[in-house]
Amino acid sequence: MKKISINVTKTELPSLAEYYRYLKKIWRSSWITNNGQYVQQLESRLAEYLGVKYLLLVANGTLALQLALKVFKLEGEIITTPFTFPATTNAIIWEGLTPVFADINPETFNINPEEIEKKITPRTSAILAVHVYGNPCHHDKIKKIAARHRLKIIYDAAHAFGVTYHGTSILNWGDISTLSFHATKIFSTAEGGALIVKSKKLYERLKLLRNFGIKNEEKVKLAGINAKMNELQAALGLCNLDLVDGRIEKNKKIFKLYRQSLGVNRQIMFQKLISAKHNYCYMPVLFPNRRIRDSVYNRFLSRGIKPRKYFYPDLTAFDYIKKLSNKNPFSSMTISRNIAGRVLCLPIYSSLKYGDIKTIVGIINKELDG
Ligand SMILES: Cc1ncc(COP(=O)(O)O)c(C=O)c1O
Repeated sequence: MKKISINVTKTELPSLAEYYRYLKKIWRSSWITNNGQYVQQLESRLAEYLGVKYLLLVANGTLALQLALKVFKLEGEIITTPFTFPATTNAIIWEGLTPVFADINPETFNINPEEIEKKITPRTSAILAVHVYGNPCHHDKIKKIAARHRLKIIYDAAHAFGVTYHGTSILNWGDISTLSFHATKIFSTAEGGALIVKSKKLYERLKLLRNFGIKNEEKVKLAGINAKMNELQAALGLCNLDLVDGRIEKNKKIFKLYRQSLGVNRQIMFQKLISAKHNYCYMPVLFPNRRIRDSVYNRFLSRGIKPRKYFYPDLTAFDYIKKLSNKNPFSSMTISRNIAGRVLCLPIYSSLKYGDIKTIVGIINKELDG
């Protein structure tokens, strides 16, 4: 049997010649960090591309989350989803806040607004929701709940680069959205991230927080941190921004092909996509149960194919998180646990070959149909 090597994603890189053009200029100027010309260029080009007003680049998506929580001086409890990458919850804990989990919707895999409402206490200060795999949250409902209880809304939009709803960017939802430009994302700067805000005041405060709190040469205004993106990252971002539309288009074709070919198998279910312009960075598939998911996964590994069990187990299964709260029994996260036990994210990236997709679909069908 032919052995292949396919990962869940493959970092998309621009041509070396293109990147080198930027590097030559960086070398000539000897300016490699501290809000250099390429960070500034990328900030304004991204703001335009994404259709947002104030965008601030940072060194990674986790720092973006930390700064988002920090800038509002939040206290107490943050209601969040258990079905996400650990960074979402870890940022809450790192900022000295308590994560309180609300279960997800079984179809969209996003935090369920009805469950949010049940978790609100006098100590709740914000909602930190995730657009899981780039699928937009139910913002209308979340917004109403937040307004009723005077809560801030932070969206972890790490997966939602370029996603629009009714023609406008979902990054404009809530009080702050954060992005990740990690190498596995549809748009990448190797490591990197961004914050999107709507007010100049918040933007200026985040700028201070990103750079040690330094106001000018003689004044430090607050206890900031070093969250700066550097010029090498920004240059990679400028190259990748020229290519991202083409990559999204290619991923879309692959996504559709997977859905068409796997959709005929009644044992397979998909995430219900909210009607929006998606970026197709992930290809999640649900199997009937964990045993079948794991046997499909093992069969893939034996063939040199590495899908990922994003996000298994769900975060409430980890001891360091369990210890944090007695008030919100994690046993109630039944939907998140169920989805986490059945999901597999299949390989998707623009250079994935048609033949490889056929092989992947064939492996799944063989395992399911015995
Ligand atoms: C939902 C989510 N939030 C936050 C992050 C953290 O982003 P970063 O790796 O850029 O720190 C990730 C990482 O991939 C993620 O998937």
